Amino acid sequence: MRVTSLAFSLSLLASANAQLLQIPQVERLSTQVVRHFSNYIKYNGPTKEALAAMKPEKQQAPVSQSTAADASYWLADIKHQGLAAFNADPSNYTVFRNVMDYGAVGDGVTDDTAAINSAISSGGRFGPDSGQTSTTTPAIVYFPEGTYLVSTSIIDYYYTQLIGNPNSIPTIKASATFTGLGVIDGDLYQSSGNQGWTSTNVFFRQIRNLKIDLTGIPGSSAATGIHWPVGQATSIQNVEIAMSAASGTQHQGIFIENGSGGFVTDITTTGGLYAMNVGNQQFSMHNLQISDAVVAISQIWDWGWTYQGLTLSNCTTGISIANGGAGAQEVGSVNILDSTIQDCEAFVTTVWGNSTSSNGSLILENITLDNTPVAVNGTSGTVLEGGSTTISAWGQGHQYTPDGPANFEGAFTAPTRPSALLASGGSAYYTKSKPQYAASPTSSISSIRDAGAKGDGTTDDTAAIQKALTSAASSGQIVFFDQGVYKVTSTITIPPGSVIVGESYSVIMASGSTWSSITDPVPVVQVGTSGQSGHVEWSDMIVSTEGSAPGAVLIEWNLDADSGSGMWDVHTRIGGFDGSNLQVAQCPTSAQPTSGCEAAYMSMHITSSASGVYMENVWLWTADHDLDNADNTQISVFTGRGLLIEGKNVWMYGTAVEHHSLYQYQLSGASAIVGGFLQTETPYYQPSPDAANSPYPTNATLNDPDYSTSCPSTGNCDALGLRVLNSENVIIYGAGLYSFFDNYSTDCSSFPTPEDCQSDIFSIEGTTSALTVYSLSTVGTTNMIVMSGTSLATVSDNLDTYAATIAMFTS
Ligand SMILES: *[C@@H]1O[C@H](CO)[C@@H](O)[C@H](O)[C@H]1NC(C)=O
Ligand SMILES: *[C@@H]1O[C@H](CO)[C@@H](O)[C@H](O)[C@H]1NC(C)=O
Ligand SMILES: *[C@@H]1O[C@H](CO)[C@@H](O)[C@H](O)[C@H]1NC(C)=O
Ligand SMILES: *[C@@H]1O[C@H](CO)[C@@H](O)[C@H](O)[C@H]1NC(C)=O
Ligand SMILES: *[C@@H]1O[C@H](CO)[C@@H](O)[C@H](O)[C@H]1NC(C)=O
Ligand SMILES: *[C@@H]1O[C@H](CO)[C@@H](O)[C@H](O)[C@H]1NC(C)=O
Ligand SMILES: *[C@@H]1O[C@H](CO)[C@@H](O)[C@H](O)[C@H]1NC(C)=O
Ligand SMILES: *[C@@H]1O[C@H](CO)[C@@H](O)[C@H](O)[C@H]1NC(C)=O
Ligand SMILES: *[C@@H]1O[C@H](CO)[C@@H](O)[C@H](O)[C@H]1NC(C)=O
Repeated sequence: MRVTSLAFSLSLLASANAQLLQIPQVERLSTQVVRHFSNYIKYNGPTKEALAAMKPEKQQAPVSQSTAADASYWLADIKHQGLAAFNADPSNYTVFRNVMDYGAVGDGVTDDTAAINSAISSGGRFGPDSGQTSTTTPAIVYFPEGTYLVSTSIIDYYYTQLIGNPNSIPTIKASATFTGLGVIDGDLYQSSGNQGWTSTNVFFRQIRNLKIDLTGIPGSSAATGIHWPVGQATSIQNVEIAMSAASGTQHQGIFIENGSGGFVTDITTTGGLYAMNVGNQQFSMHNLQISDAVVAISQIWDWGWTYQGLTLSNCTTGISIANGGAGAQEVGSVNILDSTIQDCEAFVTTVWGNSTSSNGSLILENITLDNTPVAVNGTSGTVLEGGSTTISAWGQGHQYTPDGPANFEGAFTAPTRPSALLASGGSAYYTKSKPQYAASPTSSISSIRDAGAKGDGTTDDTAAIQKALTSAASSGQIVFFDQGVYKVTSTITIPPGSVIVGESYSVIMASGSTWSSITDPVPVVQVGTSGQSGHVEWSDMIVSTEGSAPGAVLIEWNLDADSGSGMWDVHTRIGGFDGSNLQVAQCPTSAQPTSGCEAAYMSMHITSSASGVYMENVWLWTADHDLDNADNTQISVFTGRGLLIEGKNVWMYGTAVEHHSLYQYQLSGASAIVGGFLQTETPYYQPSPDAANSPYPTNATLNDPDYSTSCPSTGNCDALGLRVLNSENVIIYGAGLYSFFDNYSTDCSSFPTPEDCQSDIFSIEGTTSALTVYSLSTVGTTNMIVMSGTSLATVSDNLDTYAATIAMFTS
């Protein structure tokens, strides 16, 4: 631990606190432009059972023995045969690491910091001191039951999953003399004063099933459970954080100063000045159970954020979005739904003030208040009375219903929620955290490698995988894809009845001539075939392509699925990693689409036969830079389409779609769709070529946008972020549609002008009806909403903190 970095970190923290308290500060925690691109810019339960499991009557730390039998969990007990296929030395690289094997004792007395950090760092992995990203060193660092005493930060590395035993949650206990920013530090500040990694490039990592205990640290000392400035494809799930509840406590649970996230779910905290002290471009957070904090959620800054299923109790302030103060509010927008606030003085504290700008846009839907006298607290006192009551729908910001911009403040009629999307027995939206199969015996897990697949990045595993999936679905086994890169040469079909789990994002990679035609799309992984119904659960995997594959539809969902089917932490990653042959050497930014860098027809297709698709923390990514290049050099990889939804009953929680050439999200003939937060970025190479000149010809059968006729006469004709065509009952709780670049230059997205990297980014067409978008934020785009070719809203009318935001849009 370098003293300088610690001092810097703590002053940073103090600065964040100072801002919240509106004390003038010298150092702004989050300034704007650089935050996203200083470097190429770049589940529901938890189920009551899981929550109960989080709060077992924990014994005081056992005095000496660490050998108490650990509750069994298949992930620990199976044969460990993960293979990092493109590691320099795969035979000598360990994917699954049990901290006990690295010398941790877990008795609550022995200092386990060094052992845990050794479990994370061993094997030539990439830490914050390297500043480098890598896909070749995936790891799971596993914590059996125990109390692990730490005196300095557990330093998280790239591509790492820190996983505790869900059947007996381990505790990480900070010693009384703990020093460091986070007990788990996701991006350790370096002596230079900078984060190790550019936070917006921190992808592919998780923390699950841990209790972090800060109560040994005096409340007067600043202490942080998890420091987590991250980007996409990251998650924290099923974590409890215990903090001092003493008067004047300076503890905070999760601290995020910036990044481009992200998903967090099933968090329980007690005590603290802040349970969450968080700022980031965008984030989705579910099921935060926060008690006894002074300020449950301190929102440092954002463009957009969606909180679903908060339970805040016994606090002074539920959520403060006042940072910056009146006239300089740094929080762009916040959506809160299906939440309960009890015994707090005020639910929301804001400084929103009817100004022409959109700062502090707020949407509340279905909020139950219990003994909380003030619902919304403004600069001159109570804006909305609380008490013990329900807020059906209420907001502040700009509205276009249908015309705007008009400031609104007050109650409104919420859209009717499609009944198919609701939790049974209630009117809250259905949610389901990523299944971890905690109760499943080891005998119910079938290894894909044991079934004959090699996953070595070179062997054709098509037949072995298909045979294993078909057999497991009929016998009710869970298929475990041991870490590996599994090359396939024809379509893999996931049959109804399948449950599939990866190991630190195992990869299925399409390779070969099956996918060579740009006019003949073929799925890589198909979930059911048209007309099939049943159940599928799929988590922790990536689907990719190798080299030129212009006909590849990476994921095609056809299944008419029953309740609880879906994808959790399943991503597409197209180019930009070792083994893809779509890297700096093959696809430099000078590459034109004829160079073999046409890498996918479509990331994901939910076909018209599909229904009941639950997606949580899904990132569909065409690489804009090379993750395995030391400088994260930008690349030009050309893909056709992002996510096409033609089916019905779809949940999209914490999803993002980036850098596809025709569109990111397209809803076409879709119905009953809920989303939030939704995020997109258009390709950085545009307008060379622009969407009208995309190498991917328009396909009328798929209702592609026809840019040859729809392009605006002036400005840029770039890929749409979101297109809604002939669809109904679509409700989106927060969308961030960003266009940062024009010909690889960010001048066009400079705030507040020119914001003209492209002309249009969100298009509504055809017979679309019952569409609501809350907190629509755009960057770098002249027109924020275009309906049937006519601009309804412009950036200049809706300037916010960096993005432009419209709090409420309905059509
Ligand atoms: C995130 O915040 C840190 C601390 O202020 C800053 O050094 C860094 O540049 C920021 N990162 C981005 C991507 O803006
Ligand atoms: C295996 O990895 C260890 C630790 O990274 C290293 O010390 C050792 O030299 C490697 N062995 C071989 C045969 O490469
Ligand atoms: C409420 O929280 C405070 C700390 O903020 C704590 O001291 C107090 O005991 C809590 N009250 C109840 C009833 O739990
Ligand atoms: C209410 O807002 C005022 C003015 O911004 C602030 O001083 C006070 O702390 C807020 N109260 C709560 C309970 O958040
Ligand atoms: C909106 O946010 C920007 C950036 O933080 C700030 O410069 C501006 O003063 C804010 N405007 C209002 C009305 O809060
Ligand atoms: C905003 O304007 C409306 C209409 O003039 C007014 O009723 C309301 O009090 C204002 N709110 C604030 C926070 O200034
Ligand atoms: C509101 O959300 C709660 C969960 O917080 C749920 O039980 C209730 O049914 C929802 N009510 C409405 C009107 O949406
Ligand atoms: C258009 O999509 C249909 C349906 O997927 C496909 O059969 C056809 O080959 C595609 N045509 C082109 C030109 O891409
Ligand atoms: C894009 O930028 C490159 C240099 O950075 C330049 O040579 C090229 O002409 C530009 N293309 C367009 C369409 O502006």
